Amino acid sequence: MSLPPNIILDCDPGHDDAFALIVAAKFCNVLGVTTVAGNAPLELTTRNARIILDLCGSTAPLHSGADKPLVQPPVFADYVHGKSGMDGAELPEPSRPADSTHAIDFIIDTVRSRDDVWLVPTGPLTNVALALTRAPDLAARLRGISLMGGGRFGNRTPSAEFNIWLDPEAAATVFMSGAPIVMAGLHLTHEFQASPPRIAAVESAHPRVGPLLAGLLRFFSGTYVNRHVGFEGAAMHDVCSVLALTHPDLFETSSKYVAVDLHGNHTRGMTVIDDRQLIDRPSANATVLETIDADRGFSVIVDAVRACP
Ligand code: BDR
Ligand code: CA
Repeated sequence: MSLPPNIILDCDPGHDDAFALIVAAKFCNVLGVTTVAGNAPLELTTRNARIILDLCGSTAPLHSGADKPLVQPPVFADYVHGKSGMDGAELPEPSRPADSTHAIDFIIDTVRSRDDVWLVPTGPLTNVALALTRAPDLAARLRGISLMGGGRFGNRTPSAEFNIWLDPEAAATVFMSGAPIVMAGLHLTHEFQASPPRIAAVESAHPRVGPLLAGLLRFFSGTYVNRHVGFEGAAMHDVCSVLALTHPDLFETSSKYVAVDLHGNHTRGMTVIDDRQLIDRPSANATVLETIDADRGFSVIVDAVRACP
């Protein structure tokens, strides 16, 4: 049995970020949690992270970071996650504030203090790009960056996924940084849905936390099912970036060169995956997650919920 990965989870909770936190609390050594504006304004994503850390009994440090993308104005995803960023349950007040150090300083100091850190970004890549720009040595020090973003199709536009679309300049910095990237894109995460029976399993996994988390999932799934054709429930995007490190046997992967488009009329924020079968092609900068064993993956989520205090 390998040791749990040492991670900093950089997130914008967000329902699926919340489950990434819960799975990480059980199966990772969480060195810290950092928050970014994305699904909701920074104050709300930070508050939501504080609540979820309480629910899963995590005492990991929590630091808030960037409140807007590098270049473009902030846009939020209340049409998916509700006004709070995590609608759907009467959640308790958080017990503790965020720590005072800024997320960027925390990321830089932590990665420099050891040689075994994975960054796990599940929101726009603003914090990670700012850290890599201020401290370019981080790219070589990191074990890697396991991120949720992009894919072979989009959701915010036909070609661009929300996290990359919201801050394409940051995403380009991260993909070009030289750090090993593991990418959970939409072509993968749409195969990992919170169907009604899976939500029921979360609900019955824990007497106190289960019903709260099931409420969140029913809200999140409601917005997915109402907005899409052929969905059984919400895509649990962000959990995949944690599972890729803790349960790599759930996935089939490929090594690819991935670039982020910044200038296209229809493709700004698109992750362009070089799928050509040429012998002479750019060397891979990313491990692209291609398929997931969704039933087994969801049972890992249920185990993590069961482990909440
Ligand atoms: C991503 O956008 C957010 O709404 C989710 O939390 C996920 O990180 C999916 O496009
Ligand atoms: Ca997210």
